[in-house]
Amino acid sequence: MLSKDILAKMKIQSMIDQYPFIVSFLKDNQLDIAGYEEETWYHFLSSMSEQTKEEQTIDTDNLMEASVAYINEMLRFLGLDEESTVQSLTIIAGKDKDGRSEGFDRIKINKSEIVSIVGPTGSGKSRLLADIEWTASKDTPTDRAILINDQTPDKKWRYSTGNKLVAQLSQNMNFVMDLSVQEFLELHAQSRLVENEKETIQRIIEAANKLAGESFDLDTPITSLSGGQSRALMIADTAILSTSPIVLIDEIENAGIDRKKALNLLVSSDKIVLMATHDPILALMADKRIVIKNGGINKVIETNEEERRMLTELEKVDRMMQNLRNHLRLGEQLKLNLLDRNL
Ligand SMILES: Nc1ncnc2c1ncn2[C@@H]1O[C@H](COP(=O)(O)OP(=O)(O)O)[C@@H](O)[C@H]1O
Ligand SMILES: [Mg+2]
Repeated sequence: MLSKDILAKMKIQSMIDQYPFIVSFLKDNQLDIAGYEEETWYHFLSSMSEQTKEEQTIDTDNLMEASVAYINEMLRFLGLDEESTVQSLTIIAGKDKDGRSEGFDRIKINKSEIVSIVGPTGSGKSRLLADIEWTASKDTPTDRAILINDQTPDKKWRYSTGNKLVAQLSQNMNFVMDLSVQEFLELHAQSRLVENEKETIQRIIEAANKLAGESFDLDTPITSLSGGQSRALMIADTAILSTSPIVLIDEIENAGIDRKKALNLLVSSDKIVLMATHDPILALMADKRIVIKNGGINKVIETNEEERRMLTELEKVDRMMQNLRNHLRLGEQLKLNLLDRNL
């Protein structure tokens, strides 16, 4: 909760930057802040009340109280207050496929962290993501429990549709609805109460086309999108429309999209990102990686300096491969000089 003391000392410009909706409070109360942007809120209010002392229309204390209440209420309404924001996610150990306890007590992942999940096919990577999505409380085959902000999460998260805890990009994305890309995005935008719908939809399709090899447009029926295109669409949609504080990604590498761009688009500074992957570049882009073996979390490895240095080299190799792929697609004869990593 924002306190009166803090708000009183805040400069008007930073108050507007942090709480843009305060502009309508200013308008409602006919407060003209022009020229006062660098003054503190309290100073502005008291100087205003000096000026209008005769009319007694502005009361510093009342307005101070009212503005704090207004901001706190808006923050709650928008789901931006501390209780609604996710600061951390904790995995409490469960059991592997043989019923043996996982070799740790709990793993805490903080806001802004990227964690990759690695392990052989069938080892339980998607299962771990599903536990998080369901905010498991010893009610899944793994017996794991998930805490949000160190507490057992409210079950409202499981069933809410608008304000979801988790945005999930799953391995298989099959559309059955008979909708165009435009209609599909309109539905999403409306369900998320987006204001400038047209502009947002345009941003999504542009972002999606930057990720997918072959481009598509708003009239394309979603059922005729290729695997890569629908994946690109879902990633752009999640990145731009979703307000979920946790993003789960299940093996985006096989979808024929630019996965580094995809990850950069999805990762915003205040989210928690978990991704199951076999891709060294994606795995090393994470801060740490969870290693899964036989259904259980076997260990957690921090991405170290050596690995980070490798990442730069791997990205060069990746660009080279990408380049080769493009030449192949265009039906060209490949040339040895295309193996130059510094192209
Ligand atoms: N700890 C566990 N206990 C029981 N079953 C598990 C456990 N972990 C995974 N499984 C099951 O094993 C199967 C393969 O797991 P999955 O998560 O799909 O593997 P991956 O995504 O790594 O290929 C799934 O049916 C899953 O429910
Ligand atoms: Mg899987």
